[in-house]
Amino acid sequence: MERNAAIPRHVAIVMDGNGRWAKKRFMPRFFGHKQGVDALVKTVLACADRGIDYLTVFAFSSENWKRPSEEVSGLMGLVLVAVAKYLTKLANDGVRIQIIGDRSQVSDKLRAAWEQAESSTRHNTRITLSVAFNYGGRWDVVQACRQAIRDGVTADQLDEAMLNRYMALSHAPDPDLFIRTGGEVRISNFLLWQAAYSELVFTDCLWPEFGEAELDAALAEYARRDRRFGGVKETAVPELARGA
Ligand code: IPE
Ligand code: IPE
Ligand code: MG
Repeated sequence: MERNAAIPRHVAIVMDGNGRWAKKRFMPRFFGHKQGVDALVKTVLACADRGIDYLTVFAFSSENWKRPSEEVSGLMGLVLVAVAKYLTKLANDGVRIQIIGDRSQVSDKLRAAWEQAESSTRHNTRITLSVAFNYGGRWDVVQACRQAIRDGVTADQLDEAMLNRYMALSHAPDPDLFIRTGGEVRISNFLLWQAAYSELVFTDCLWPEFGEAELDAALAEYARRDRRFGGVKETAVPELARGA
C-alpha cells in the first residue's frame, strides 16, 4: 500500500514539561513523570493508528544527571515500573521497542529491563518506539566515530552514509517531524545529526497533557509544511514562461 506523504514516517518528541505540570497541581515533580509515562503509551498507540512507522522519544538526556539525586533515582525506578506495567500491552499491540543512549552508566537492573523490552518485541512491525535514555546528540556522534574507528573504517571510507550506520538511530530513517512540548524552543542535545531536515513543531502543551488532539495538531502543521531539502519547490510552469 502506498504511504500518504502528508503523514510523517518518523516522529521524534522531546517530552518536556512534566515537572511544571505537577507543580501546577501542587504535586511533586515525580507525579508529573509518572503521568508522562501514561501520555507516552497513549501517544505510541495513537501514532501507530495514524500509520506512523517510527516514534523516537527523549526520556532522559545526558545532561539530566545534573538534577537532584532523588529525581534521578526516581526516574530510574520509574523505568522499571513502566516496563513491568506496560511491556506486555505494548508487545501485544505490535510495538517494537529499541533503547538508544549510553547504557554503560545505568544499573544492571535497568539494563536488564531494556534488554527484556527489546528482545520481547523484536519481531513486532506495527511501529518502532525508540526510547532515548541517557542519550545526547553529541554523545551519539562521538560513539559512532569511536565504533567506526574500532571497526577499522579509514578516513577515505568515512562518509555521511557510513557514519550514519554507526549512529544510534541507524535502524530508522531520519525523523520527518520533531515535536517539543513544554514551551521551550530548543533542541537540548536531542537528535543533532538525524534532525538536520526535520520539520520542527513547538507546543506549549505540557507533556502529561499531550494526547490525540495535540498529535493531530502537530500532524496538521506538518502537512502544511513545504519540505525542500535545499532544493527548489516544483511549481506548475506559468503560461508566460512557456512562451505563450
Ligand atoms: C521532561 O520534563 C522529562 C525529563 C527531562 C526527564 P521535565 O522534568 O524537564 O519537566 P519541566 O521542564 O521541569 O517542567
Ligand atoms: C530535555 O528536557 C530532555 C528530556 C525531555 C528528556 P530538559 O528539561 O532536560 O531540557 P532543558 O534543560 O530545558 O534544556
Ligand atoms: Mg524540562
